[in-house]
Amino acid sequence: MNTLEVAKEKLEDVGYLNVPTQGVNYVEAIKKLKKEKNAVILAHYYQDPEIQDIADYLGDSLYLAQRAEETDADMIVFAGVHFMGETAKILNPDKKVVLPDLHAGCSLSDSCPPQDFAQFVAQHPDHYVISYINCSAEVKALSDIICTSSNALKIINSLPKDQKIIFAPDKNLGSFLMKETGREMVLWEGACLVHEAFSIEKLLELAKEHPKAKIIAHPESQAHILKAAHFVGSTSALLQFVQDDVSEEFIVATEHGIIHQMNKKVTNKKLIPAPIQQDNTCACSECAFMKMNTMQKLYLCMQYELPEITLPENLLKGSLAPIQRMLEIK
Ligand code: 13P
Ligand code: SF4
Repeated sequence: MNTLEVAKEKLEDVGYLNVPTQGVNYVEAIKKLKKEKNAVILAHYYQDPEIQDIADYLGDSLYLAQRAEETDADMIVFAGVHFMGETAKILNPDKKVVLPDLHAGCSLSDSCPPQDFAQFVAQHPDHYVISYINCSAEVKALSDIICTSSNALKIINSLPKDQKIIFAPDKNLGSFLMKETGREMVLWEGACLVHEAFSIEKLLELAKEHPKAKIIAHPESQAHILKAAHFVGSTSALLQFVQDDVSEEFIVATEHGIIHQMNKKVTNKKLIPAPIQQDNTCACSECAFMKMNTMQKLYLCMQYELPEITLPENLLKGSLAPIQRMLEIK
């Protein structure tokens, strides 16, 4: 067997093609492959800076789902995590969708196993099911509509006041939305490890050291962090806020990757990552799943068109309508 055949055999175990790439200039090679294969690269803000910089479209979960829906590329290269690639595949069943590392999962999605969720939904028969996009295709298929942190408020407000709602899988986002809308919802008890890692004690300490800084936070963070924040919003809303707000210093409570874009947009402002409970090298919260993607893996997945996202026919069909309902809400 040659190296490629060995790598293909191991793909299931390791999640990516482990083929030697000595001497490859990834930036040049990726740009060339994009043209040759009519491929589009969609990247999330939590990707490494060099991946963000080479993407055709860079954004939050909603923006990337919208770009996936309208693309006429032959191959979608998703520089993000598995549920994002799945969403792109559900929207484009006839296109090839590749992910640099198939093991790039999501702790929030994992916190909602489909069999358990099916039982939960069955226990609340008259409830409308809103699921955050950070969930598996199986959970999407059990939902009435999908939302992201950018449009969740709008979706809840579009429902009749007396409509009972299940919100899954993120309990922190769900609690935040209950406060914002004044509506009761039945919450699934899931969470994102990255956004639950922030330390309120260290954050308040840091805020004392930077009295002029505004604290901004993603709604996947815990209630005490959101209470301390001057502004709460989705990844793209946080990026917009630092550009529009008059303050010159911000403490940013979300995944560290967004700081790269913030630094590009506001060169004269100070952006401080919110501290986490455990000490690590960057003293910030990084999503280990998002960071599994590298330039080498991005190049290899485009070159060999592997690993590919595939889904059974019934799941592709069953999970499409809830995503389409979300995309129809402008
Ligand atoms: P948004 O991209 O919708 O802000 O969500 C953040 C996130 O955790 C993505 O996995
Ligand atoms: Fe999932 Fe959290 Fe990583 Fe987003 S940051 S992909 S929600 S684990």
